[in-house]
Formats: sequence, structure tokens, C-alpha cells
Amino acid sequence: MLKGKTIILGVSSSIAAYKACEVVSRLKKLGAEVWVVMTKEAAKLITPLTFRTLSGNPVITDLFSPELTDLPIPHISLTKKADLLLIAPCTANIVGKLANGIADDPLTTIALASTAKKLLAPAMNCEMWRNVVVKENIQKLGVRSFEFVGPEEGKLACGDEDIGRMSEPEAIVG
Ligand SMILES: Cc1cc2nc3c(=O)[nH]c(=O)nc-3n(C[C@H](O)[C@H](O)[C@H](O)COP(=O)(O)O)c2cc1C
Repeated sequence: MLKGKTIILGVSSSIAAYKACEVVSRLKKLGAEVWVVMTKEAAKLITPLTFRTLSGNPVITDLFSPELTDLPIPHISLTKKADLLLIAPCTANIVGKLANGIADDPLTTIALASTAKKLLAPAMNCEMWRNVVVKENIQKLGVRSFEFVGPEEGKLACGDEDIGRMSEPEAIVG
């Protein structure tokens, strides 16, 4: 089903970023071409090299990088060939930026330029998820045809049993 499809996987800075590795592996096994775009903060939690190795493509952390010679205007070249923009994990910060048209990093710039289907897998602390600002932002994105998978209830990084866990890679890919 995913053979010949191009998927941009956005990774933002939740501790669930390690699970995005399995998302890449599963998508690749199903025949998709995967390009990973990471936020600067996500690259503090997990290295771009990990995603480059798993995806077989350069990882975009900086739109102005001289290394992206095949993608002279990365946010346009890449979005043109993408069938899906998946953001997993998607932080409260990225939800807020997307809902308000902010494009001050590679991931949100690509999202703003993309006409592809968009699927977000939010991951955050339960109080962040319950925050009325986050709720409003999620609602705004829903109206604009963004789709969501999760978050789920379960053990959070802070130790609480509550809502906010990113869905498992199997569910996201499913
Ligand atoms: C260890 C750690 C885990 C974090 N996990 C989350 C998270 O799951 N969800 C979230 O919204 N923010 C989380 N944050 C806070 C974000 O990293 C912070 O808001 C950051 O500025 C978001 O940047 P980004 O959205 O550009 O990746 C975490 C921070 C740290 C230090």
C-alpha cells in the first residue's frame, strides 16, 4: 500500500522521539520513501544520524544547510513530492505553531508549504494536553483537516498514569 509513496516524518522534541525510529523502520519495510525533518530541540534527544541511517535519506534540521545540495529549496522541493506529512511525536509547541501559521523552523515551514495529507501523533504531559490553549489549537487544526492518532492513556515520562503518551509506532503506521 505504501510502495512508491513519499512520507515526510517530522520529529519534535518529546522523549517519545525514540519511538519515531520504529515508525521509520516500519514505513520503510512497507515500501515508503521516508524523509525525516527534526526540530533543533529534537536533535538534542536523538541524533539525526540515527534517522539518516534508518531512512537512507539526509535528515533536515536546518533549511539553510549547505549539505542539502539535492534539495536547493528544501521546504518546496520536498513538499512537492510528499504524499503525507506525519509528525510523530508532535509537541504542544508544534501544535501551537501549526495552528497559528508560524513557520520559524524547518518542520513548521514544510507543514505550511505542504498540501499533502497531514497526520499528527501528539505526545505531551497530561496537563499540557488538558491546557485550554492546546485544546483550542487542536480544534483549529481539526477544522483544517489535520488528522490525529492519539495521544493515549498510560505511563508518562514524568511518572504519572494519565493521558499524553504518543501512540505506539504500530498504531501510527496502521
Ligand atoms: C526530556 C524532555 C521531554 C519533553 N517531552 C515533551 C513532550 O512529550 N511533549 C511536549 O510537548 N514537550 C516536551 N518537552 C518540552 C519541549 O521539548 C519544549 O517545549 C521545546 O521547546 C519544544 O521544541 P520543538 O517543538 O521545536 O521540538 C520535553 C522536554 C524535555 C527536556
